[in-house]
Amino acid sequence: ISMYKLAPSILAADFWRLGEYIKEAEEAGADYLHIDVMDGAFVPSISFGTPVMKSIRKESKLIFDVHLMVEEPIRYLEDFKEAGADIITVHEEACRHLHRTVSGIRELGLKAGVSLNPATPLANLEYIYQDIDMVLIMSVNPGFGGQSFLPLALDKIAALREIIQQKQLDIDIEVDGGVNLTNVKDIIEAGANVIVAGTAVFNGNIKENVAAFKYAFWQR
Ligand code: DX5
Ligand code: ZN
Repeated sequence: ISMYKLAPSILAADFWRLGEYIKEAEEAGADYLHIDVMDGAFVPSISFGTPVMKSIRKESKLIFDVHLMVEEPIRYLEDFKEAGADIITVHEEACRHLHRTVSGIRELGLKAGVSLNPATPLANLEYIYQDIDMVLIMSVNPGFGGQSFLPLALDKIAALREIIQQKQLDIDIEVDGGVNLTNVKDIIEAGANVIVAGTAVFNGNIKENVAAFKYAFWQR
């Protein structure tokens, strides 16, 4: 049991064999399943939505960590709950009324996360900390898997960890984009505890990759 969670992103999976990929990650000890929903408006690409989630939900016990890269996600909160979400993370930049949106997530009985794009300052969270369970620090510009990690995220994670400690908040720090077995040590050192990895989990041997991430957590 660890405070560190591994959240494989299915965006990097082969969708022809999605079920097998998820099963393998789950059996290997993945904690969350990171589900990237893209609307082609907030980000350039379109990924998948609730029908795909519902199919996975029937077969998987993993915690569904849903990352909504969509404009005004408040419109879809019930839909994603119904499709099996456990955690819903919205982008600060995509919500006209962020407080109403995260309150709506919690009213559905789910955990609420807020994500920040690389250029968005932590200060934008100042009045929302009491109303959220997780902050997702983007370490790439959202929209695609397989990009390289932006080092600015490390400073941001460390600064957020300090705020959380200072204010004695019970908030997870998730990091997403370009995470691999080489940079994960610096990332957890900086203070992140929920680690998203797409390419680094689903490229190559899934079981070995998951085990290697868990080993890095254990070493810490
Ligand atoms: C990017 C997505 C990420 C992405 C991570 O917009 O939010 O979750 O799938 O993939 P990797 O780990 O390959 O960068
Ligand atoms: Zn994501």
